[in-house]
Amino acid sequence: MCGIFGCILKKGEAAPIIHGGLKKLEYRGYDSVGIATIDRGHLFIKKDSGKIDDVHEMHDLDDLPGRIGVGHTRWATHGAPYQVNAHPHTDCNKQIAVVHNGIIENFAELKTELEDLGHTFKSKTDTEVIAHLIEEVMKKEVLFVDAVREAMKRIDGSYAVAVISVKAPDQIVCARKESPLVLGVAKDSIYVASDIPAFLPKTNKSVVIEDGELVVLSDKGYEIRSIADWNLVTREPELIDWAPEAAEKQGYPHFMLKEIHEQPLRLRNTLRIQDQYLDLMTTFLDRAGEVFLVACGTSYHACLAASYLFSKLSFLATHPVIASEFVEQHGKSVNIDSTLLVVSQSGETADTLEAVESARLRAATVLGLTNIVGSTLTRVARVYIVQQSGPEIGVAATKTFTSQLSVLSQLAIKLAKKRGKVSHVEIEDLEESLERIPDIVEEIISSEEEKVKQLAKKYADRQTFFFLGRGMGSAVALEGKLKLMEISYIPSLAYPAGESKHGPISLIESGFPVIFICPKDSTHRSIIGNIMEMKARGASIIAIIEKDDEEIKELADDYIEIDTGLPEVLSPIPFVIPLQLFAYYMSLERGNDPDMPRNLAKSVTVK
Ligand code: F6R
Repeated sequence: MCGIFGCILKKGEAAPIIHGGLKKLEYRGYDSVGIATIDRGHLFIKKDSGKIDDVHEMHDLDDLPGRIGVGHTRWATHGAPYQVNAHPHTDCNKQIAVVHNGIIENFAELKTELEDLGHTFKSKTDTEVIAHLIEEVMKKEVLFVDAVREAMKRIDGSYAVAVISVKAPDQIVCARKESPLVLGVAKDSIYVASDIPAFLPKTNKSVVIEDGELVVLSDKGYEIRSIADWNLVTREPELIDWAPEAAEKQGYPHFMLKEIHEQPLRLRNTLRIQDQYLDLMTTFLDRAGEVFLVACGTSYHACLAASYLFSKLSFLATHPVIASEFVEQHGKSVNIDSTLLVVSQSGETADTLEAVESARLRAATVLGLTNIVGSTLTRVARVYIVQQSGPEIGVAATKTFTSQLSVLSQLAIKLAKKRGKVSHVEIEDLEESLERIPDIVEEIISSEEEKVKQLAKKYADRQTFFFLGRGMGSAVALEGKLKLMEISYIPSLAYPAGESKHGPISLIESGFPVIFICPKDSTHRSIIGNIMEMKARGASIIAIIEKDDEEIKELADDYIEIDTGLPEVLSPIPFVIPLQLFAYYMSLERGNDPDMPRNLAKSVTVK
């Protein structure tokens, strides 16, 4: 997690620009913030625990001199979120400042070694060892850049670092291993950041730094080298076509609401993915001996829904696996005949990448579905598809979930076609239905948002919720529960409805709210049975139903009615929309910030 940002300007003050860049990275972690600049041979630092705006109010982060500097917004891994643990970290003599995203696995050994050499540590972080390591190497009168290289060679683990030193006051030296790092290149300035939106307002020219590379930034530009052999790497900037305002809130009070509303547009983009990529991935899936669908959190729920799709449409059995369990569950059996379809919005989730690595070591084929071009997943996958959702800033995944479902549906339909398992007429109907989904989602948002808001008001004080669905609806139930829980902090449960009577039903007492996902598919009859069971025990029934489902309307205390008319396999996308809105409004009702849920970060790059 964590966000790093650095810049060198030909003229002007760097601190306000770094502050602005960090605001764009705040979704990556926001328990502390800090900035270091260099001016006239001195290092200046301001840092503290708390959100960026609060720290700025206390310390005025813009008031630091110099046209060069680095900054950091933190999500704590080593050391509690206190001021002393906030980045940047310095060496003993306050000559070097380091910001870091990642985890240094051998920091305890390095720290002991450095302490034995007389270094004094101020923080409990792993990062501080980097500053002292560089200081130690520089005692041998080596150049700053060489010292950073030597330090990086000593470090095990993951890092994206940006370092400045008063000994080289015109340079930022950066390095990357397994944590994202990109450069932004403009005429009179140069930037380094954890991701592109951080510098998009300043430049749309970007260079992705690869694992094992070190970069020297100066006001003359950038020089990339391989840390291992010091070979020069030539890489020209690429033009990024995201408009800067794509990463702004565009008038919505929160990114999450903006991103929920953006779904029709994003789903249209997702339908524009070129056939050649979908066809290639379909070929790999078709040939596979066994297929694992591997992901975490919301992306895992997309995989779970996809496992029903692949089975129902393409007659392909798949194993959806939570990434952090993959090595334990399948690490020994995965082999050259196995294929992993790995789904990760960020493409940087540590648990997901660990599963990928273990499978690659056993010669399995890795296919990737991600939202981030240049992410680690795109570099390790044999074939990857970019889901085209645009940057998602809200911590709770919304538009990226529905885009993932759209891509996975397209793959399942293509595979069905390839395998000749489904009639032409049915395939045509599915393809046409997919094309209609963006409009259907648009209609659901415009007609149901107010009703969902009222529902949230009515149920705002409930202590817990139960989400139930059957078939693909059980994946939607899990996702609805995750959304509600992560931003409103209401402990909730989700189960396949049939399983609820094997234990969870004992929780039900008068007024216990149970949300049912009720598409009019092959599970409809059984879902009605489950509603009756809950109702008989006094539960308050909230049902998400298809338009004119009079039978369930009769049974439910409250319902949200959506007009889809879609084939049953495509129901998850429209059915999840009211649940995203419900989570959002519940979060507001309970006085939370839905964009920044406590203890969470957008990209989980630690195991
Ligand atoms: C929930 C959420 C997380 C992510 C999970 C995986 O709203 O966003 O559960 O889905 O951390 O992230 P990616 O898809 O980036 O691998």
